[in-house]
Amino acid sequence: MTIAVNITTTPKQKPNADELGFGQIFTDHMFVLDYTTEKGWHGGRIEPYAPIQLDPASKVFHYGQAIFEGLKAYITVDGDTLLFRPDRNFARLNHSAERLCIPAIDEEYALEALKKLVEVDREWIPKEPGTSLYIRPFVIATEPNLGVDPSTAYKFIIIMSPSGSYYAEGINPVKIMVEQKYVRAVVGGTGEAKTSGNYASSLISSEEAHAKGYSQTLWLDGKENKYVEEVGSMNIFFKINGTVVTPELTGSILPGITRDSMIQVLKQKGIPVEERHIAIDEVIEAHKNGTLEEVFGTGTAAVISPVGRLLWDGEELVINEEKIGDVSQLLYDTLTGIQTGKLADEFGWTIRL
Ligand code: COI
Repeated sequence: MTIAVNITTTPKQKPNADELGFGQIFTDHMFVLDYTTEKGWHGGRIEPYAPIQLDPASKVFHYGQAIFEGLKAYITVDGDTLLFRPDRNFARLNHSAERLCIPAIDEEYALEALKKLVEVDREWIPKEPGTSLYIRPFVIATEPNLGVDPSTAYKFIIIMSPSGSYYAEGINPVKIMVEQKYVRAVVGGTGEAKTSGNYASSLISSEEAHAKGYSQTLWLDGKENKYVEEVGSMNIFFKINGTVVTPELTGSILPGITRDSMIQVLKQKGIPVEERHIAIDEVIEAHKNGTLEEVFGTGTAAVISPVGRLLWDGEELVINEEKIGDVSQLLYDTLTGIQTGKLADEFGWTIRL
């Protein structure tokens, strides 16, 4: 499959680093690939970033057949362009596609398309510390048909957004509310797929968290409302008495690529790390007896985000005096060091364009 390139004749003004925020500004180009039952995936092209026209009966609007990914491109200290584990994103996209009855995409072709798109919009990658080019590949069902069955037509699109921190707090600790009423996912549901509906159903909880002054929600398992799962925009880790614990992947948790990377870094540094069930009661108990040393989230958008306060059952737990813990800082420095080329990539995670 080839990739046609149509360069814009009206490039946009690039933003200053202090105007970035997260996911608000988009680059000059996007990649688009179409699917029909007759032709399969076809017509891959890079074209000027613009609104797309869809039939109002497109299945995505009615039944939410949509999946997405999030990854980043960086400019290294040597001025190279670098992608972090993009192969894992396309593998996960296909895993989500399988769950949502969306036809698989050729992962190598998707990576080639992404590399080309990033090269075309290279000047949009911000260079300031803490900034990057956030990349959002997604697939939507476009067949105009209200029958509840898998679409026969799709669009795979990659858009890109120069971004700063996901949280306004940056690397400073965030406040998280443990959700006790709503659930995000159950085993057998779509929790481990990156599908839009998971995020839609989480909004009511985020709104309630915001109203109480918290950044986001920590989800418990959907069956017993007992075991910690994830935050929704990031996976969660607890350092208890010297050991870092993160919920094991049960099928209802998103298999985060940053999560996986940080587990590998912890192992390499000789810091004990466990993937297992962790009940919220264990976290509360550890806080009470003074062994809850750090809590932090990991995610592409969030990077490493320390948690300074947890609201549970009307009670607020203050963690590590709301300071960044040593392990959180070490992981942040290691991850961003590899991503910006300041540290050697011993894991083979990065691709330089
Ligand atoms: C990411 O970290 O890339 C995500 O997809 C989280 C997002 C919903 C902001």
